[in-house]
Amino acid sequence: MAKLHITTEINGDETEFLCEPGQSLLEVLRDELEFTGTKEGCGSGDCGACSVIMDGRLVCSCLVLGAEAEGRSIVTIEGLADGETLHPLQQSFLDHAALQCGFCTPGFLVAAKALLDRNPDPTETEVRYWLAGNLCRCTGYDKIVRAVLDTAADMKGARS
Ligand code: FES
Ligand code: FES
Repeated sequence: MAKLHITTEINGDETEFLCEPGQSLLEVLRDELEFTGTKEGCGSGDCGACSVIMDGRLVCSCLVLGAEAEGRSIVTIEGLADGETLHPLQQSFLDHAALQCGFCTPGFLVAAKALLDRNPDPTETEVRYWLAGNLCRCTGYDKIVRAVLDTAADMKGARS
């Protein structure tokens, strides 16, 4: 079957790729474009490891077709840091030791960024609900939640 030619924007850069009609965005990101920070945990929308932001919405890239990226703007984990400077959420996860194996971490970070983009001052309950779609088998969720809340507080302090 003929491949589809897709033009999209990934982490601010215009990007073109060819994909099969049934290929998921996760497969395209990892296998065609080498954005391997986006992980595959379940492949069925249950774990959040494959989270990316598409036109401002948090999505599971395993449930999105590569072809659906046409004309969209996508942010992956590789888009969070600014050169050598980590995103505040990344630094906070390090500071709180909010990871062990790290397999789930890209998804948590992308999800947390999507939350703070739309709600810069979330309550703990809001953080816990928002991250309910991201599963971690290694670490307690408390450190992750604390890292997100502390980032929000720091960013709020920087704004005022
Ligand atoms: S790999 Fe997409 S939700 Fe688990
Ligand atoms: S740190 Fe291992 S799955 Fe979360």
